[in-house]
Amino acid sequence: MVKKYIALFCSIFLLLGLVACTDTKTEVEEEADLTVVGFSQPGAESTWRVALTDSVKEAFTEERGYKLIYKDGKSKQDNQIKDIRTFIQQGVDYIILCPIVETGWDTVLEEAKAAGIPVIICDRNVVVSNESLYTAFVGSNFKAEGEDAISFLEKVYTDESRPINILHIQGTIGSSAQMGRSEALEKAVEEHDNWNIIGQECGEFTKAKAREIMKNWLAEIAADEINVVYCENDEEAMGAMASMNEAGIEYGVDTDIMVVSFDATSAALEMCLNGQINLEVECNPLQGPYLYNIISTLEKGNAVPKIAYVDEGYFTKDMLSKDIIAGRKY
Ligand code: AHR
Repeated sequence: MVKKYIALFCSIFLLLGLVACTDTKTEVEEEADLTVVGFSQPGAESTWRVALTDSVKEAFTEERGYKLIYKDGKSKQDNQIKDIRTFIQQGVDYIILCPIVETGWDTVLEEAKAAGIPVIICDRNVVVSNESLYTAFVGSNFKAEGEDAISFLEKVYTDESRPINILHIQGTIGSSAQMGRSEALEKAVEEHDNWNIIGQECGEFTKAKAREIMKNWLAEIAADEINVVYCENDEEAMGAMASMNEAGIEYGVDTDIMVVSFDATSAALEMCLNGQINLEVECNPLQGPYLYNIISTLEKGNAVPKIAYVDEGYFTKDMLSKDIIAGRKY
C-alpha cells in the first residue's frame, strides 16, 4: 500500500516537473522570438529627454515583439561608446543611438557595422567619415529650430536701430541641438549691426548650470542693458528665470527683456501662456513611433529613408490655451 502511494507521489511529481519544463521552454522560445533593440541615451538632463526615453520605451514593447535594452550614458560620450560595445557583445538586432555630441563615433560604429548590427541615429545627428556607418537618422532639424527663433526676433525688432543686447545660454557644446540653435543666432548677430551677444556660456542643457550663469551675469550686467535671454532649452530658461526672479527683474511679454526657449515642454508652455516666456520653439521628443516605423520596416526587409525629421512648430502666448497644453503629451 505504502509502495502504491510512493509510486503515485512520484508520478505526480514527474508530471508537475514536465509541465514546469514545458512552461520554461515556451518562455525561452518566446524570448528568442523577440527582436532585441539596444537604446543608448546620453543622460537624463532634461524633462524633454525623459519624454524621449518614455516614447521609445512605449514603442518597443514585448507585446509588439521587441525587447528594449536601455542604457543611460550619464552625460559622457565614453559611457555611450562602452554601452554600444556592450550591445554588440550581447548580439542585439538593432542599436538606437542618441549621440551626446556629433563627432567621435566612427570607430564604434565601424564595430557595429562589422557585427552586422544596423544603427539608427536618433534625436541629434552624427558627423562620420562614411554615411554607411549608420542606417538611418530620425530627429530634429535644429537649424530650422534656430531659424524659427531668429525670424521671431527679427519681426519684433524690425526697424529698431537701438542696440539689442542678447544673453546666450548654450546647450552641450558639440551637440547638434547646440550647434543648430547657436549658429542661427550667431549668423543673425553678424547680419544685424545693432544686435550684440553680451554674454555667452554653456549651460549643459540643465537648470542648475543656467541659473548659476545668469546669477553671475546679473552681478555684472544691469537689467536695463539686457534685451533678450536666448536659452537653448527649457531647463536653461527655467534656471535663467529663477535667477531673474531672485534679482527682482521683470521679463517676458510687455517688458524689455524677452525670453526665448526651445523644447516646448508643458511646464514651459504654461509659462509662455502666462507671458513669462516670449517664444517657445518646439523640439519634438515623441520619436518612438518614428523609430518603430523604421525598425519594423527594416524587419520586413524593406528600405527606409536615410533622414526623417520629426514634426515641430513654435508657440507664442497668443497661440496657446490651457486646452492646447493639456492635449499635449509632454
Ligand atoms: O537634443 C535635444 C535637446 O536635448 C533638447 O532641447 C534638450 O532639452 C535635451 O536635453
